[in-house]
Amino acid sequence: MTKSVYIGMSADLVHPGHINIIKRAAELGEVTIGLLTDKAIASYKRVPFMAWEQRAEVVESLKGVVRVVPQHTLDYVPNLRTYQPDFVVHGDDWQTGVQANVRQAVIDVLAEWGGKLVEVPYTQGVSSTQLNKALKEIGTTPDIRRASLRRMLHAKPILRFLDLHNALSGLIIEKAFVDTPTGRREFDGMWASSLTDSTSKGKPDIEAVDTTGRVNTLNEVLEVTTKPIIYDGDTGGKPEHFQFTVRTLERLGVSAIIIEDKTGLKKNSLFGNDVDQTQDSIEAFSDKIRMGKLAQQSEDFMIIARLESLILGKGVDHAMERAEAFLAAGADGIMIHSRDKSPDEVFEFCARYNKLENRKPLVAVPSSYNKVTEEQLAANGINVVIYANQLLRSAYPAMLGTALSILEHSRSAECDSRMMPIKEILELIPGTK
Ligand code: SPV
Ligand code: MG
Repeated sequence: MTKSVYIGMSADLVHPGHINIIKRAAELGEVTIGLLTDKAIASYKRVPFMAWEQRAEVVESLKGVVRVVPQHTLDYVPNLRTYQPDFVVHGDDWQTGVQANVRQAVIDVLAEWGGKLVEVPYTQGVSSTQLNKALKEIGTTPDIRRASLRRMLHAKPILRFLDLHNALSGLIIEKAFVDTPTGRREFDGMWASSLTDSTSKGKPDIEAVDTTGRVNTLNEVLEVTTKPIIYDGDTGGKPEHFQFTVRTLERLGVSAIIIEDKTGLKKNSLFGNDVDQTQDSIEAFSDKIRMGKLAQQSEDFMIIARLESLILGKGVDHAMERAEAFLAAGADGIMIHSRDKSPDEVFEFCARYNKLENRKPLVAVPSSYNKVTEEQLAANGINVVIYANQLLRSAYPAMLGTALSILEHSRSAECDSRMMPIKEILELIPGTK
């Protein structure tokens, strides 16, 4: 009788290593590919370049593959129990690292019906990791980058964004990672903060840096990164001007703009009622959202409405009324802002917001309530957490410290150990020499 063989794979970038595994599997029997869903892949590494359906189309056409089924978790066990294959075939490169536990679980569950794990020697000279790196160096396109935010929102429980203010900050967000027992952790994208962009230009955060100036910063960042960008659109300006901003951002490949429901001379929210701040009327702000949505050319660009009710001490009822109105006007998401030290009021809002029938992604900016963890935010339904200014605020004291040290010692030797070695510049920015 024909034996059955199961292979779990992501197949985002199909290479000879995959073909080798499928060939070996086909010699053993009838091959079923358990194609990891976007969610399963995103649970331990970045969201794949191609959607599940696209990857399935590729894999289905490979010689030796009889069927493709979704594998919803990195853990093979649920699918293996369903299909009870005689063999699982995998490359031998998962014996250590993040996947070692997954491998052991495969061996254990196969033993229940006498199935076997067959490991194929790793194909030297080509790997998905290398291909991914090469792809990053090639870059991305505006269309792919713009759409990547919506894809990530579908695939991951919570997305993590960090402030940009120049190309170098963009590179940090693009490249920084830590390896954890459950996989690689990195930033999902960049927040084009008005506060940090204005501050880095030595101007106050009152829309004094105009859209052209802000777009200059974006262009620097877009040149050297691939991750999605959420743009801080302040109040959005006049509705007629907002329409142009939407089109400019879309064309550049920015994924979303967040506009705040304030009017008049904008002041930074973190000053709350300490400064004069006026909230826009529901009607006028809804009109602005509608006009933005009408101007939009692509399917995937998002206009997110930011609620200033809690900032201005007007409470959760006030914020909820606005959330409902702005969603009805076509907003693709809501950002709930607060400058409280505790997340309680934000979470009270979340509980009510989560019950809305046409609930859309919810964004939080925990600058003041900074003890809250991403896990807590996600548990309360927050879909995007924005660390809105931490990169700029950490760069400033570091630079000031160096300047003072040179002044104090009349030389740079004392601050040398605190600085980035020149060699690291060459690694960070290839092509320097
Ligand atoms: C920004 O980063 O510019 C923001 C967030 O708008 S906040 O500074 O908290 O208002
Ligand atoms: Mg801002």
